[in-house]
Amino acid sequence: MNPDIHIAVIPVAGLGTRLLPATKSQPKEMLPVARKPVVQYVVEELEANGIKQILFVTGRGKTSIENHFDFDHELMRHLRETGKEELIQELEYERLRLQFFFTRQRKQKGLGDAIAYARHFTGARPFVVALGDSIVGLHASSRVVQRMVRAFRENNPACVIALEEVPPESVSQYGIVKPGGEGEVFPILDLVEKPSPQEAPSALAIAARYVLSPSIYEALEETPTDRRGEIQLTDAIRILLRQGEKVLGVRLSSQERRYDIGNFQSYFDAFVDFALSDPQLGSQLRERLEERFREDR
Ligand code: UTP
Repeated sequence: MNPDIHIAVIPVAGLGTRLLPATKSQPKEMLPVARKPVVQYVVEELEANGIKQILFVTGRGKTSIENHFDFDHELMRHLRETGKEELIQELEYERLRLQFFFTRQRKQKGLGDAIAYARHFTGARPFVVALGDSIVGLHASSRVVQRMVRAFRENNPACVIALEEVPPESVSQYGIVKPGGEGEVFPILDLVEKPSPQEAPSALAIAARYVLSPSIYEALEETPTDRRGEIQLTDAIRILLRQGEKVLGVRLSSQERRYDIGNFQSYFDAFVDFALSDPQLGSQLRERLEERFREDR
């Protein structure tokens, strides 16, 4: 049986061109969704799922991510001296019991290439990958990573992938799998990157969380670059499948929606959902929106 998995890799090096101009001089992973930047939700989710060490794969213009997870003694002192003690709890996340590591992807050659930068850090250990631009579950409440780690421990596969059912007309935006069974955990027979609705083998989309064994690194070395000059993680997982390795899918539950902050449509959706469920301001916002819609009618 595999030991527990305590390490995670968060790739945050992407250019975020689909969110320009918002991402011209700030990382998309630092865009706020209601009160917190995206990547803070990702880190909090990983901590709640038992992760102890996180490697960020960063790139140019991403230093604000490193700063965000540092202690800011000056800000603390300022809040204390100006009697704003109540705001100190907003910085509680700085005390998360996690160790952070950073490395830089030199050139943005795709998600698969970014993962390859983790090789010397993860060594012979299996590890979690959580995309830095995707939140799973409202306010990062998901425990899917724990379920994926359990599936990994019990079945010893090469890879476990989180999956979310998407509307059939949206399959062309995602990596889609061909499932080899039903239920919450099942084998995956194949993966197709952004298929047309006619070609799609199902409506189960890869949902931004993976557990990978070190065999992924050799597969990444063999993975050719795609038309855009990128190395895709899905292509590397497909190589593992072709070699006869086991790949499992774990479904997100209905409470574990995946929020992709990679395009404006789903970013707006996420912001609205998170703001509407804000414990202090959510109900006021709902009332104001209802009023506004009544006026428009
Ligand atoms: P995307 O596929 O959304 O790519 O990345 P992108 O480059 O960030 O965005 P667009 O397409 O230009 O709008 C998915 C995840 O993989 C990371 C991103 O930071 C994001 O968390 N990534 C992507 C890298 O770390 N390196 C890359 O070369 C590409």
